[in-house]
Amino acid sequence: MNRIYMDHAASTPVHPLVAEEMLRVMTGTFGNASSVHAFGRDAKRIVSAAREKIAAAIGAKPHDLVFTSGGTESDNMALFGAAHARVDRGRHLLVSTIEHHAVLHAAERLTEQGFEVEYIPVDVRGRVDLDWIREHTRPDTTLISVMYANNEVGTVQPIHEIGAFAREQGVWFHTDAVQALGSLAVNCGELNVDLMSFSAHKINGPQGIGALYIAPHIKLPAMLHGGNQERKRRAGTENLAGMAGFAKAVELAVSSLEERHTDALRLRRELLEGLQAAIGEESFVVNGDPEHTLAHVVNISFPAVGTETMLMNLDMEGIAAASGSACTSGSLETSHVLRAMNLPEKVLNSAIRFSFGLGNTSEEIETVVKKIETIMARVRIKS
Ligand SMILES: Cc1ncc(COP(=O)(O)O)c(C=O)c1O
Repeated sequence: MNRIYMDHAASTPVHPLVAEEMLRVMTGTFGNASSVHAFGRDAKRIVSAAREKIAAAIGAKPHDLVFTSGGTESDNMALFGAAHARVDRGRHLLVSTIEHHAVLHAAERLTEQGFEVEYIPVDVRGRVDLDWIREHTRPDTTLISVMYANNEVGTVQPIHEIGAFAREQGVWFHTDAVQALGSLAVNCGELNVDLMSFSAHKINGPQGIGALYIAPHIKLPAMLHGGNQERKRRAGTENLAGMAGFAKAVELAVSSLEERHTDALRLRRELLEGLQAAIGEESFVVNGDPEHTLAHVVNISFPAVGTETMLMNLDMEGIAAASGSACTSGSLETSHVLRAMNLPEKVLNSAIRFSFGLGNTSEEIETVVKKIETIMARVRIKS
């Protein structure tokens, strides 16, 4: 069976040129970047080149980037770092309800440590309300954290506006740009953002490497203590091949942004039009914000079929899609994102996320549509 991968928001295939670059580094350079000899200097050059390449692609200065092990660590570093760095100003944080658990669970931990976290609600399309943020920002608010684009429904947030407001108030602004990088223009200098999280494996780079952008005026306490790497902001011997691969992935993603966007829009349109023709528009609902969305993430509910049933049936047909729901003790928990959007129960419990990327074709979309049609017919007969 030919398998079809439509779960690029979870992780992506490594681009062949990224793999080539990583292999070049792994087989050619094995020194420790902290060593003073020539092997160490070679390693250091790779770290610096990767940092410079990524910084240039996202409008940052090389020193503003700290390499991390991925989006989770970047989000944790931003939240814990900012909260603890600013206790003189206060202990109040605003965090959106639809953040990734890397932010939400960090926020929960901060609450246990005596911080006060208020959760920014979203509308039915998953957008935060700027007026709500304005009304709930206080003199003791230290950080606002709102993701650039959501991983489950693709909704893109008004980052520029939130950032401008936060700057005006002297509140630091963190945005999780893990899903946005490679899909939306990311320019750290222009976005009014103080802290921005990135991850390589969402853009055809390797797993286990990411970065946190830290604006020049911000000082965060380190979370990992040890050597002097990353200008003492994150100790640990550098992941040379990961950094080189990440840099290559960013270069490829940013230079092909328009092409990727056009491809994703086409696949999205073909999926939705195909479903309309095959099962009728009354049989499904698209969740999210059609005006402000990542092109490559489409969250669709098929109210006649539960999420788990649809996912399992798709998997049996060789199609990989996702639900935003976490699997706890063998059963699916409803997605906190869809719940925050206040969607009806039937829509909540039948949502499937399709996300496109490298390698997906129109023929695959046709197959997916046909298989969904078959699955729906089979499930309808049974029920
Ligand atoms: C929006 C968002 N933030 C953070 C993460 C975590 O990134 P990583 O898998 O690199 O730790 C993900 C990954 O699913 C994500 O989608």
